[in-house]
Amino acid sequence: MNVTLDHVEGRHPAAARAAPSAITDLSLSIQRGEQVAVIGPSGAGKTTLLQLIAAALKPSFGHVMVDGQDPWVLSTSALQSLRGHLFYAPQTPPLPPRQRVVTALAAGRLPGMSLWQSVVQLVYPRHVAPAVEALGAFDLSEKIWDRVDRLSGGERQRVGLARALMSPATLWLVDEPLSALDPKRARQAIATLTQRAQARNITLITTLHQVDVATTMFPRVIGLRDGRLAFDLPSGQVTQSVLAALYAQHEHELAGIAAPVFDIPAEPAPANIVHCR
Ligand SMILES: Nc1ncnc2c1ncn2[C@@H]1O[C@H](COP(=O)(O)OP(=O)(O)O)[C@@H](O)[C@H]1O
Ligand SMILES: [Mg+2]
Repeated sequence: MNVTLDHVEGRHPAAARAAPSAITDLSLSIQRGEQVAVIGPSGAGKTTLLQLIAAALKPSFGHVMVDGQDPWVLSTSALQSLRGHLFYAPQTPPLPPRQRVVTALAAGRLPGMSLWQSVVQLVYPRHVAPAVEALGAFDLSEKIWDRVDRLSGGERQRVGLARALMSPATLWLVDEPLSALDPKRARQAIATLTQRAQARNITLITTLHQVDVATTMFPRVIGLRDGRLAFDLPSGQVTQSVLAALYAQHEHELAGIAAPVFDIPAEPAPANIVHCR
């Protein structure tokens, strides 16, 4: 699926009247099969951008077009069909407690099913083999019969991502998928998502806190700041000075991630410190 934003403004219904728009005058175009990372300080509008593309938030100005269609003028059935082609993974996956992992994964397929199929599916999980495969891709196959509320935060987050592999969608919108993962698992998870998306020509748009993952694992990086487009560049052109400008006054959000941007020369250890094993 391709995505086009034309001078889009996004305001949350619950936002104070005086509050600035979460997204302001944003125009961009993403082609089918592209892989894009969206970065920027907290509050920059990354989640709002995904919500606008997912047709979860109506633009207060401008248009978001998904495969040439404006979701907000479609009939209910056409909108349902469009939603069936997109997979939106919120930062905290909505996994109902007491549900087994296999059932939670099968729910990833629901948008493409009839109501009757989905009811049957919830009672008799027939997609065990694809669920095992999807979980295996995130190193979780042994958790298939576990209850989701007995998983760790990181495992739950990976189950949320495995749902993408199960879904029939051709547009994946993934919000901060790595917040509960250690750096090694985070890279593995993104490698899985990007490889699977590429193999199926799926458009992948991911917001990320981890700037190093964005610039090394995605071909295109979009920087948002204060709801506006700060840059839209091939990742090779996202230099340290570009990042420093994006995160100016928010440098702590880069701490420990993009160390070369703020290279602090290592101080020699004081002579009186004894190094113990
Ligand atoms: N549901 C909401 N109601 C009101 N304001 C919101 C809501 N969600 C986000 N905002 C505001 O919109 C702006 C952008 O938020 P968000 O898109 O969540 O940024 P990010 O994901 O980059 O941290 C922030 O100022 C935030 O306070
Ligand atoms: Mg966010």
